[in-house]
Amino acid sequence: MPRTAGDAEPPQESFTEEYFDRRYARAPDPWGLASRWYERRKYAVTLASLPRERYRDCFEPGCSIGELTRLLAPRCDRLLAVDFADDAVRQARTAVRGLGHVEVRRAELPAQMPGGPFDLIVVSEILYYLSRDDLGHMLDGLVGRLAPGGDLVAVHCRAPDLRHGYDGYNVHLAIEAREELERLVHHADEEFVLDVFRRTERA
Ligand SMILES: C[S@@+](CC[C@H](N)C(=O)[O-])C[C@H]1O[C@@H](n2cnc3c(N)ncnc32)[C@H](O)[C@@H]1O
Repeated sequence: MPRTAGDAEPPQESFTEEYFDRRYARAPDPWGLASRWYERRKYAVTLASLPRERYRDCFEPGCSIGELTRLLAPRCDRLLAVDFADDAVRQARTAVRGLGHVEVRRAELPAQMPGGPFDLIVVSEILYYLSRDDLGHMLDGLVGRLAPGGDLVAVHCRAPDLRHGYDGYNVHLAIEAREELERLVHHADEEFVLDVFRRTERA
């Protein structure tokens, strides 16, 4: 189905930590991040789309069980991954055990946004869980912590089933509207949308 701006609304309230705790209690890897072809392909396209071979400081919000964290680690000098679900944090720490330059921290976003600056921020499948207000605060926080010339990579399922509200298509339009960012890469296929934005030097 062709998409148009505003054809889905963000959730009235952001999805809560309790919602995700229940998901992790029912299945340790609720989305099949470690097993599904969708995820493996998404990770491969995400890594291949990073414009630079290496980054100094990377931030990964909503890291879940650390599958993408583990793949980003070799591309960064330091990597901070956060999630608000305790079980996710525990699993992500296990996934990156032995990688001294990677820290996994519990944080609720956008309220507990870590200090920056970061020259790479990778936002994968988290923004469409946020209410309109929280999405705005989240983008303020992320863009505010992105170093001039730094890259923000966003990748989200396009969710043709809109029963759950906002989806990648509209979330990415919201990022695109930020005047501090210029888009370097746009990938859209039947399953997910991926954009790479760079924070302009003048911002
Ligand atoms: C679909 S999973 C993310 C998958 C992961 N980024 C990937 O692509 O491999 C969404 C994760 O975001 C976390 N999350 C959702 N809302 C959050 C918030 N407001 N603050 C922190 N973490 C959040 C959830 O606990 C969950 O682990």
